[in-house]
Amino acid sequence: MALTIEDASIRHLDRLYEIEMECFKREAFTKQQIAQLLTSPNSISLIARENDEIVGFIIGMLTMKDKMLVGHVLTIDVSLSRRRKGVGIQLLHEIEKIFKGKQARICRLEVREDNIAALSLYQKLGYKKVAKLEYYYGDAHGILLEKFLA
Ligand SMILES: CC(C)(COP(=O)(O)OP(=O)(O)OC[C@H]1O[C@@H](n2cnc3c(N)ncnc32)[C@H](O)[C@@H]1OP(=O)(O)O)[C@@H](O)C(=O)NCCC(=O)NCCS
Repeated sequence: MALTIEDASIRHLDRLYEIEMECFKREAFTKQQIAQLLTSPNSISLIARENDEIVGFIIGMLTMKDKMLVGHVLTIDVSLSRRRKGVGIQLLHEIEKIFKGKQARICRLEVREDNIAALSLYQKLGYKKVAKLEYYYGDAHGILLEKFLA
């Protein structure tokens, strides 16, 4: 089935929130937070669409850190029934391309230290662990990863 990556917009909010809840449950962004991200001029949000169905999304933001433009991935979500089919890889590749096009030199993200699926995906794409984030998720530590956008 053909997968396309497209810009997300506020009209996708209901479906994106549904996927977010499926992915994160208690730790999910609220619907209002997702709405804010989708409408913020600083954020970059993409959906993965398979035929007529949205099967995943990614939201990131450009930030200035130490006088350097950094692309920061805030969330990446793939619907349970569509996992392990390369959707996550395609979403990350696309947002990295956009960050790079906007002159970001680095892409950063945080992940729970027990999130094996996400850690494996990031490491496969060349992300390196740069710091442990103590109790970043309240009950669990996080890991900060980054990748140079060569
Ligand atoms: C993490 C997530 C986005 C991956 O999406 P996906 O579309 O299933 O990932 P892909 O199919 O692109 O996987 C690419 C590679 O990542 C690794 N990977 C993905 N899921 C994995 C898993 N469950 N276990 C081990 N490795 C995994 C593998 O190396 C995989 O390549 P392979 O299938 O050829 O072995 C998805 O599991 C998800 O939405 N999880 C819940 C939300 C979440 O945790 N987001 C990250 C927050 S930081």
